[in-house]
Amino acid sequence: MNLKIIQHDINKEPFMSGSPDFNRKSILMQTEKSFKSEIINIVTLTALEKLFHIRISDHFERKNFSFLPGQFVMVHLPGCGEIPISISSSASNKEYIELCIRKVGKVTGMIHRLEPGAIIGIRGPFGTHFPVQKMTGANVLLIAGGLGIAPLRSPIYWINEHRSEYRDITIMYGAREPDQILFDYQFEEWKKIYGLQLLTIVQNAGMGWKGRVGLITDLFKEVRIDPENTFAIVCGPPVMFKFVCAHLSNVGIPRHRMFVSLERRMHCGMGKCCRCNVGSTFTCLDGPIFDYWTVMNLKEAI
Ligand SMILES: Cc1cc2nc3c(=O)[nH]c(=O)nc-3n(C[C@H](O)[C@H](O)[C@H](O)COP(=O)(O)OP(=O)(O)OC[C@H]3O[C@@H](n4cnc5c(N)ncnc54)[C@H](O)[C@@H]3O)c2cc1C
Ligand code: FES
Repeated sequence: MNLKIIQHDINKEPFMSGSPDFNRKSILMQTEKSFKSEIINIVTLTALEKLFHIRISDHFERKNFSFLPGQFVMVHLPGCGEIPISISSSASNKEYIELCIRKVGKVTGMIHRLEPGAIIGIRGPFGTHFPVQKMTGANVLLIAGGLGIAPLRSPIYWINEHRSEYRDITIMYGAREPDQILFDYQFEEWKKIYGLQLLTIVQNAGMGWKGRVGLITDLFKEVRIDPENTFAIVCGPPVMFKFVCAHLSNVGIPRHRMFVSLERRMHCGMGKCCRCNVGSTFTCLDGPIFDYWTVMNLKEAI
């Protein structure tokens, strides 16, 4: 099938103009600058994932650093390389950012060997964000598979901090095995958020697991969705968001009200190296957050 590429630029949506700090111009002004930063704390989450608390060393730069949920930074490890990582913390935390990093290769492996006090570089923030301002007055479904919960924490913090502006909030989270569930120490705290429903599921239950077993799409049986007034944020591997978005579409949520994060290999993060392209679209500038309508119309996006 020959799909037509729709030139839909989420940055040109009216709701994006409410945050002048994050338009293209300001991103390009910041891109060259690598902020000297210190790892101030490390939380081991699982055998593969660690949560790093990172503080920009210079007081002035730290106070001026701001981002919106869904944006990412380039983490620079001198002599080793630089990688894109989604910011996993609250946008209102001006002291440090949190990055949840899975050990998969050269740079992530080296980062996992660092101790608190290590100095690294941070560039950014980059990319588009989840349009949380546009979601006010609506129900929000936050759906994550595996490591996808890391970028989702940021909109969860945002919604909690602006709780009265949103209606019902549902978090659906699926992991392969119980010991791969991330941030379970925060689940009780999240459940206390007014009007928030949290559902978790694993594919393969181990000994002692008393929760649900199955695929993330099985959770839809327990969720009531009002398609007229619901936005969805979906993060996880493409195979997962494909099935999840298909279900959401079947229940009547329009594709332009579903938002996904597209991950591609990135080098510059600023539209210069053409490493991250899907057709003529730069996932570092035009994404990584796209509405699903756009993703469906991007050839070879998923
Ligand atoms: C916008 C964005 C946000 C991201 N956020 C996070 C995050 O919050 N936490 C996190 O742990 N990771 C995140 N990633 C993925 C992360 O950037 C890669 O895992 C990292 O670049 C791997 O570097 P490496 O040198 O350790 O691996 P390499 O030695 O370069 O490669 C090891 C393996 O990882 C695969 N890989 C490398 N880069 C990517 C990529 N971008 N996407 C998928 N597979 C890749 C390679 O194909 C290879 O199989 C994000 C990627 C993008 C583009
Ligand atoms: S990462 Fe270089 S153009 Fe997107």
